Amino acid sequence: MKIVCLGGSLRTESLNRRLMHYLARQCETAGHSTVVFQGEDLRQPLYEDGLPTPAPVEAMTTALREAQGVVIVSPEYNAGIPGHLKNAVDWLSVQRPSPWTGLPVLIAAASPGAFGGARGVIAWRATLANLGCWVAPGAITVPLADHSLAADGTPTEARTQAEIQRALQSFLGEGIPG
Ligand SMILES: Cc1cc2nc3c(=O)[nH]c(=O)nc-3n(C[C@H](O)[C@H](O)[C@H](O)COP(=O)(O)O)c2cc1C
Repeated sequence: MKIVCLGGSLRTESLNRRLMHYLARQCETAGHSTVVFQGEDLRQPLYEDGLPTPAPVEAMTTALREAQGVVIVSPEYNAGIPGHLKNAVDWLSVQRPSPWTGLPVLIAAASPGAFGGARGVIAWRATLANLGCWVAPGAITVPLADHSLAADGTPTEARTQAEIQRALQSFLGEGIPG
């Protein structure tokens, strides 16, 4: 299957970007192909009616339409979705036909905090459900991520690795129809 991985903050050192690359590698190890959108791909002008669609948004739209699933790896900002990611989602949501409709999505988050971005996951669920996505019931959250992720995004604790594996397998194996 083709899986789009989308997320991280705009920081080069983003913990969420690290986690996203780990998840992409895990998808590939399981035999899937991945396309990653991060950093500058997500630095789009604020959505405004009448602005031409930026080229990276067109590229993401095409990739989402071709994908069988999406993994969104998002920082939690003030218990919600960071502005750059919400803006990218909004841009994508006005493309016709919407690339979100019926798309299976797994949400993941990493945070230096104790909750691992879990409150942001709740905000994502509401937005993605409104877009007509199929949102996986499980989510991946990595707390204390400034200590619990290696430089390449691999979780340093075996238990976290196992939890991630379970969530990914459930999403890739059972979660995606067809
Ligand atoms: C504006 C702002 C709001 C934040 N709010 C939260 C929050 O609600 N919960 C949380 O766990 N961390 C919060 N953080 C801390 C981020 O989780 C932390 O900066 C994290 O490293 C951001 O993800 P990144 O490493 O992928 O850039 C916030 C950070 C910023 C800049």
